[in-house]
Amino acid sequence: MIILAIESSCDDTGAALIEEGRRPLSNIVSSQDEVHKRYGGVVPELASRRHLENIVPVIRGALEEAHTSLDDVDAVGVTRGPGLVGSLLVGIMAAKSIAYAKDIPLVGVNHLMGHLLAIFLEQEVPFPLVGMVASGGHTALYLVEGFTTFRFLGGTRDDAAGEAFDKVAKYLGLGYPGGMVIEKMARLGDPRAISFPRAYIAKDSLDFSFSGIKTAVVNYVRSHPPSDDGMADIAASFQEAAVDVLVNKIIWAAQRYGVDRVVVSGGVASNGRLRERLEQEGEEFGIKAYFPSPHLCRDNAAMIGVAGYHLLKAGRRDGLDMSAISRWPLGKE
Ligand code: KG4
Ligand code: ZN
Repeated sequence: MIILAIESSCDDTGAALIEEGRRPLSNIVSSQDEVHKRYGGVVPELASRRHLENIVPVIRGALEEAHTSLDDVDAVGVTRGPGLVGSLLVGIMAAKSIAYAKDIPLVGVNHLMGHLLAIFLEQEVPFPLVGMVASGGHTALYLVEGFTTFRFLGGTRDDAAGEAFDKVAKYLGLGYPGGMVIEKMARLGDPRAISFPRAYIAKDSLDFSFSGIKTAVVNYVRSHPPSDDGMADIAASFQEAAVDVLVNKIIWAAQRYGVDRVVVSGGVASNGRLRERLEQEGEEFGIKAYFPSPHLCRDNAAMIGVAGYHLLKAGRRDGLDMSAISRWPLGKE
């Protein structure tokens, strides 16, 4: 079965062709970072307009790279939510048009489910597993018992982890998106130079809060205007605080549910320090950590194809009246 998958929930336009739910024949992402850079964050109106311009060339590109045509496509999977409605609608309209014209099944996919299943494009991981999505829009932990069985364990009460990286980078004048620039700068600094707060909320809580650490960075910079070296120490100390919380909570979740494997995805999962620390500390507790390659951690359509495949296999179909769902919790029902 070949699925055409489409992703347009935020600021990246993606299309991919996925064979048998795991083999990517193509995976094209058109990033809008250049558009939103000058505003230091995603501007929804600009994002949807850019999706409109990009969607057809990106789908064409994915078909060409896979050496296929729409006649070879068996079903269409598209991100239905959560995300920006104006952005989601562009992908959904394209998906519906193709499903209607070719008379093939259509399935709407929860974006978070896509992130959690991205790892299966590269390797098999046995269930059950603890999955974490850490991105610019989400920070959430799940118990994943099968391809379509998710239980929400905890999430952020304020900012997402990636959002904290973005806001701190913006405040320090390092540019957008913030994750990669902070990581690069952090390599030059001392992670123990400044002790920023770690918000654990309560002992054993699996919820997160990242707004306090962002404020702590702002307050620190106000009272200690940094030199160039100082900037690297701030970046390294901030990153270490964010990574500490993520690593500890992922391990707590695995221990609480008696699971010895964890999968981390979303843009923040590209972070080298997070990978290194979770691998090391996980090993001490007999927990193996899995991370998709960075291009599959970030928003992409291939992961939507994996999720779409398993939803279709489970009998899910959506009609041409399918709407976008801007807030769509996963695993809370
Ligand atoms: O998954 P993604 O591409 O889009 C969303 O669904 O949000 O994630 C983007 C987020 C941004 O906040 C970005 O700053 C963060 O992931 N990010 C990182 C790194 N690379 C991207 N955060 C920390 N370290 C990185 N290396
Ligand atoms: Zn995402």
